[in-house]
Amino acid sequence: MGTGFLLTGIGLLTTTTGPAIADAAVAIDGEKVTFAGPAADAPESEGRTVIDCGGAAVLPGFVDSHTHIVFAGDRSDEFARRLAGATYSEIAAEGGGILATVEATRSSSEEELFRLAAERVWRMIAAGTTTIEIKSGYGLDPETELRQLRVARRIGEELPVTVRTTFLGAHSVPAEFKGDRDGYIRLLIEEMLPAAATFADYCDVFVEDGVFDVDEARAILGAASALGMGARVHAEQLSHSGGANLAAEIGAMSADHLDNATIDDARALATAGVVAVLVPGASYTLRSGQAPGPMLLEAGCTVALATDCNPGTSYFESMGPIISLGVVEMGLTADQAIWAATRGGALSLGFEDRGLIETGAQADLIVLDAPSPTHIPYRPATNLVSRVFSSGRPVIPL
Ligand code: NIG
Ligand code: FE
Repeated sequence: MGTGFLLTGIGLLTTTTGPAIADAAVAIDGEKVTFAGPAADAPESEGRTVIDCGGAAVLPGFVDSHTHIVFAGDRSDEFARRLAGATYSEIAAEGGGILATVEATRSSSEEELFRLAAERVWRMIAAGTTTIEIKSGYGLDPETELRQLRVARRIGEELPVTVRTTFLGAHSVPAEFKGDRDGYIRLLIEEMLPAAATFADYCDVFVEDGVFDVDEARAILGAASALGMGARVHAEQLSHSGGANLAAEIGAMSADHLDNATIDDARALATAGVVAVLVPGASYTLRSGQAPGPMLLEAGCTVALATDCNPGTSYFESMGPIISLGVVEMGLTADQAIWAATRGGALSLGFEDRGLIETGAQADLIVLDAPSPTHIPYRPATNLVSRVFSSGRPVIPL
């Protein structure tokens, strides 16, 4: 042994696979959990480093299954304009919004983009995130989209976090293709997708009135699938545009946002096994009303919660406040929200061994400075994460 850890004195262990266990212990050997259960059944320390949690709660590391964290610049000016009455769509129509961040990102070097993203991801890790999905989508040209994806992959190689990458070239039509959207979609399918396939696990499309429609998205995601990429869909965010139904039709891994999803959408997603990734930080920032989380759960959907971290609609880096919004604003229970932020996110990324704590799971887990995970939504402005283990390594405290 020698590299292992034995966490004792766990007041409440959230496994996400069954009821929480009071007075528990967890053993970690190498990258894996080798015991999780009642303290009375725990193995001897056998050379493992013993950490007494002093009655604290332990839960799986957060799986943030929807982020746009590789970007340059900020859009605090637009935030202020929206507070004064402008809408997200108006600002986008003037060439602001996503296209403003595209300009800043295009003119940023790969090294600078990595530095900015790594700073964000370290803050995310310190707040308990151990797995992150990272999208491109602020390049909208072959070179910059690839730069973003390389940066995202490098984050996973150099920081103690597991990364899955998503090509989001279909985030907006870039300014130089204004008036020739078919030309951009051709470039996307014929040139950008094949190049992105080396660096991206998934392809995503922003299906929205005035952005990409269902037929365009079907063509893009079909081409991505032929290259081996799974599908994720920005669906029903600002209007009801058919993205959820498309996600169900093509068997996407996830349909994300869903603020305007209907009961029929919910049933279709549940039947097709598409994970509903809800991002309450965006709805909060845009003051647009939350996705119908309880209705999606009631319909049988697997629900995940994610930050959607981006400079326009949701500049949230921590999962704690997102869980709080999921509870207080969206109406999930604390247990549902914690599950969605861990196991739900993992399932949306196809991870069987993450977002849970049981023998054989990847040893991604967090120790709270609190006796139960309910303190996370209850105390939304405090980072309660005191320790983080990522793939069996203690990474917080540094
Ligand atoms: O998830 N919906 C589209 N994309 C982002 C917004 C990106 C931006 O405004 O920069 C979102 O909310
Ligand atoms: Fe998004």
